[in-house]
Amino acid sequence: MAKNLISISDLSKNEILEIIKFSDSFIDDEGNFRKEDLFPDKTIANVFCEPSTRTKSSFSIAASNLGCSVLDFDVNNSSIQKGETIYETIDALHLMGVDLCVLRHSDSVIKDLAEYLPNMTFVNAGEGMLSHPTQTLLDLKTIMDNKETLNSLKIVIVGDLDHSRVTSSFLEVLKNFELEALVLSGHPAMCTKYIDNKQGLYEPDLNKALDNADVVMALRIQHERFEQELDLDLETYKQDYQLTSEKMDNAKGDAIIMHPGPVNYIEITESIYDSEQSVIREQVKNGVAVRMAVLSRFLSC
Ligand code: CP
Repeated sequence: MAKNLISISDLSKNEILEIIKFSDSFIDDEGNFRKEDLFPDKTIANVFCEPSTRTKSSFSIAASNLGCSVLDFDVNNSSIQKGETIYETIDALHLMGVDLCVLRHSDSVIKDLAEYLPNMTFVNAGEGMLSHPTQTLLDLKTIMDNKETLNSLKIVIVGDLDHSRVTSSFLEVLKNFELEALVLSGHPAMCTKYIDNKQGLYEPDLNKALDNADVVMALRIQHERFEQELDLDLETYKQDYQLTSEKMDNAKGDAIIMHPGPVNYIEITESIYDSEQSVIREQVKNGVAVRMAVLSRFLSC
């Protein structure tokens, strides 16, 4: 049993399904989160070295709901600004009594940190372009809430795949399921890693990609991760790759539309966000329940 959640592959398929099932128990019949004083002696630090709304706030709410003490560490007003390294920073938090560190960082530092501080538990809340395991868990829960199982589904992911840690962790977990098809779509300059991907078919024509889809996941252009901005005409991009009601006519009538957020209304229209097929707001809500289950699991190690 893994002590840290660094990658989604730290969890077996059974452990993943158990976490998702356990997360259901934190939502009552009215759809509210249960507050359970399960870990009153534990302290969680949220250390976010990149911006976040959903992940940071949901970890904070999840930890409070479990009775933990929560430190929402303010990186911008910390001694990191005076040159202190992330290693010294988290060691200091550990010495002050933090049991579990939820870390978002632009670099791949979490594995080294876990080795440097073996008595601390780490949960990855977003590692550069590499991984975002708890997003994957909440995405799986959202799909299973709506489709029961992933087996036999056609899943389409469209957008800036190259810079997406959501995609890399999601593709990793999909190896555990027998999909009918996985289709990857988006501007070729943003899908270079996936054009020859063996796990899924790259289809640059989004209308074709969406044919008979059960689940459509749209991703924003992550300008903050481009080394050099693409010379992109936004109107042409939207014409080709923005998810619209017209393009969704190619998918199954009961297809669900997902997006990890934040939404820019370039990759999807406002009417797609508000449509009955959209489960984007369910994803946000599931983030709290799933993170309550993740914290419970890793605080019990
Ligand atoms: N999906 C996600 O990671 O959103 P935030 O950046 O708002 O946490």
